[in-house]
Amino acid sequence: MAERVKLAIVGCGGMGRRHLAGLGELARSEHNNVDLVAVCDLNRRNAEDLADEAQGLLGVRPRVFEDAAQMVREVEGLQAADCTTDTGSHHRAATMLLDLGLHTLCEKPLALTIRGCDRIIAAAERSGKTLSIAENYRRDPINRLVRALLDDGAIGDRQFIMETAVRGKDDLFITPWRHQKLSGTLTLDAGVHYADILQYYFGDPAVVYGKVRLYEKLRYSRKTGGPGGFYEKWAEYIPDTIEATGEDAMFATITFANGTLGQWTDHYAGHGEPLGYRMVYGTRGSIAAPGDRNGKPIRMTFDDGTVIDDERILEWAPSYRLSPVAADLFGGERPWHYDFDFVTTDRKLLALEQYELAECVHTGAQPEVDGAVAKRAVALVYALFESDRAGRAVTIEEVETGAVDAYQREIDEHLKLV
Ligand SMILES: NC(=O)c1ccc[n+]([C@@H]2O[C@H](COP(=O)([O-])OP(=O)(O)OC[C@H]3O[C@@H](n4cnc5c(N)ncnc54)[C@H](O)[C@@H]3O)[C@@H](O)[C@H]2O)c1
Repeated sequence: MAERVKLAIVGCGGMGRRHLAGLGELARSEHNNVDLVAVCDLNRRNAEDLADEAQGLLGVRPRVFEDAAQMVREVEGLQAADCTTDTGSHHRAATMLLDLGLHTLCEKPLALTIRGCDRIIAAAERSGKTLSIAENYRRDPINRLVRALLDDGAIGDRQFIMETAVRGKDDLFITPWRHQKLSGTLTLDAGVHYADILQYYFGDPAVVYGKVRLYEKLRYSRKTGGPGGFYEKWAEYIPDTIEATGEDAMFATITFANGTLGQWTDHYAGHGEPLGYRMVYGTRGSIAAPGDRNGKPIRMTFDDGTVIDDERILEWAPSYRLSPVAADLFGGERPWHYDFDFVTTDRKLLALEQYELAECVHTGAQPEVDGAVAKRAVALVYALFESDRAGRAVTIEEVETGAVDAYQREIDEHLKLV
């Protein structure tokens, strides 16, 4: 087996802690190909805490840094970085890590704007290092199975997808920066996961008509520990109320390059009954996908009333097969459901991303979610914003090239990207 890749976690907030749990999962498996040798955060306390946590989990305390350049100078043989800084800093942090010569796994969204994405992609090209984006939802075995069902023609040809989530009220989602246009609006920060699922299931989006709204201008902290409780230790520092500037709801009609259609609603200020469904319609039937990280079974329905929502679904997806590592972590090559809690599922999916990065370092292979794929997901989200501003449908090409950028321009100016 090749030597383990020496890696640093850069960004020791909530997601940094979750990525550490991913490394713990990988370390307990037979496939460990990574050694955590350093942690880095502008906030020394966060980095020291994560190093302590790593010692408890992995048995070795990584070195602690506040400055990535110093880290690269002082840690011999450091090869890779796991960039889990907040979204508004990715264009600086990931660019710097790549320029410092580190293969980089960057959390989603790749950057806060399209120009930010371009900056990181250019750094990857300059340095010749791997840039992989930590898009975890598509790695969920159940999403792999939906994709195989679609590719194998289980419901005929793809026709139409509805991706809908309505929830949120006036809750403050995890951190204040997720509610500010200039630091990472919810609809981008969380919405990009769904953009990626849309492209993962249906291929490249081409044309988008969208509307975006800011419904809840005041957000109230409910003092939760965030997903999996990972943010609990910071809860006391979160203000009770914040003023939001970033849009919290978006609605769209999408035409994909292959001519199929989609309707997308991602509403984080919904009151009353929450709603969530992902329905895929084909020329012969439908698939109700259960969503992400819950392991629930898929339901497939045909016109004669046949409903398949158990193991028989595998007969319709002959091409479905997880990678050897995913198969070990999820208990089989072809799981049709699983029964892990959120924290366990989360760390398994993150372990798969970390494993893949190290494999790319060893073999030179291209990661599944590279800069171009991740940028397209960001472009799909911003297509809704730019369409709203322009008052017309926009093409993904216009968004990706920056030909329409009226919404993002203010952010780019703030980030000094124009
Ligand atoms: N994939 C998922 O399911 C998922 C879930 C949550 C968050 N995320 C993503 O993870 C990223 C981090 O989110 P979070 O919730 O952990 O944020 P956070 O605010 O909890 O933590 C960010 C940390 O990064 C540090 N930081 C900022 N700039 C830095 C720099 N240049 N160098 C070193 N450290 C720096 C901050 O001091 C802080 O400790 C975001 O991009 C977010 O979208 C992904």
